[in-house]
Amino acid sequence: MKGILASAALCGAVSASLYGESNLNHSCVLQDPIWSCSANAQPDLVDTCCSETFGGMFLATQFWSTYTGLESEGQLLPANSWTLHGLWPDFCNGSYTQYCDFDRQYDPAPSPNTTTGDASGTPVPPYKGPSIDTFLHPFGKFDLLSWMSKYWINQNAPSKNLWAHEFSKHATCYSTFDTPCYGPKAAPHSDVVEFFETAVAYFRRHPTYDWLAEAGITPSNKTSYTLDELQWPLTKASGAVPYLGCTGPRFNETKAGKGSLDGGYTVLDEVYYYFHAKGRPQDMNVRPVDADAVGSDTTCAHSKGAIWYYERAKGSEAEV
Ligand SMILES: *[C@@H]1O[C@H](CO)[C@@H](O)[C@H](O)[C@H]1NC(C)=O
Ligand SMILES: *[C@@H]1O[C@H](CO)[C@@H](O)[C@H](O)[C@H]1NC(C)=O
Ligand SMILES: *[C@@H]1O[C@H](CO)[C@@H](O)[C@H](O)[C@H]1NC(C)=O
Ligand SMILES: *[C@@H]1O[C@H](CO)[C@@H](O)[C@H](O)[C@H]1NC(C)=O
Ligand SMILES: *[C@@H]1O[C@H](CO)[C@@H](O)[C@H](O)[C@H]1NC(C)=O
Repeated sequence: MKGILASAALCGAVSASLYGESNLNHSCVLQDPIWSCSANAQPDLVDTCCSETFGGMFLATQFWSTYTGLESEGQLLPANSWTLHGLWPDFCNGSYTQYCDFDRQYDPAPSPNTTTGDASGTPVPPYKGPSIDTFLHPFGKFDLLSWMSKYWINQNAPSKNLWAHEFSKHATCYSTFDTPCYGPKAAPHSDVVEFFETAVAYFRRHPTYDWLAEAGITPSNKTSYTLDELQWPLTKASGAVPYLGCTGPRFNETKAGKGSLDGGYTVLDEVYYYFHAKGRPQDMNVRPVDADAVGSDTTCAHSKGAIWYYERAKGSEAEV
């Protein structure tokens, strides 16, 4: 994982809102939107529901994986597409907090299990109520749920657990998705619906599979790729250098990399696109930010032909 964990004290770990703001007066049309991470993006200068003041740098994160582990239950990966991981609010310096509001803790298996990731943090209570997908039912958002079931896919656990995890760990740390922002008459879980819709919208705006395929880069178990070949088409299309994450063996520990000093990993599995937003991230007025400029350097190997962008396992992919 990238980033340095910020002090949990900043994060209202058990309170109902980040700043204790009123649930009235959040008509964002009445304010000029402010760029997140700019000098004026301060909680005492703007309506924190209308401009992001807590996590000012966002990451639209996606996975490339080759199996789900729950194929037998019909949990498959979408053909010709990466999958949605989340939409994370980092601080402007790249560090972050997590599980910022225990009143909105819907994650059945909190990970990490404390707010700091170690014994110094507050334990995050596992959620035992109705699963988060049911929150969408009163809104009639069955098309959204059906899309999420195809493109927002978990590994070795049901996808709805990932949705709950992403909401409770990350969405609760935005000022702009905070509960009071929705006003006194909001239907319960309006924030959940809006967060899911926003995460989906950013994902759809970043079609990683297509961007790579247009550059002639498709999953292959025969041909490996070089970091630049993967990074360049995504940079050109998204407007900034994304973070690429790799897993698997280190290059210097593979046959091809024996004797090399390149200790980067060799199996491509993640991409993060970074932004600042003007006003609410929901409104998608963003400017892309270079991942390497904010200290998020790739974990992938740099050597020629060191990276594998593997084909999905047989039976793990659905036609969509
Ligand atoms: C709403 O805004 C008005 C005008 O700025 C202010 O007087 C009032 O106290 C605010 N109400 C709440 C509940 O914050
Ligand atoms: C990053 O920013 C956050 C929020 O402003 C702050 O709490 C934290 O200490 C900063 N971390 C570093 C390493 O500067
Ligand atoms: C969190 O997980 C660690 C490692 O599995 C375990 O040792 C610790 O007791 C857990 N803490 C809580 C609060 O559940
Ligand atoms: C490979 O690189 C890593 C990180 O640079 C290093 O810790 C490890 O010892 C290296 N392994 C070999 C076999 O050289
Ligand atoms: C491609 O390779 C990956 C990694 O070894 C493997 O999991 C997958 O099943 C392979 N796919 C095909 C179609 O052979």
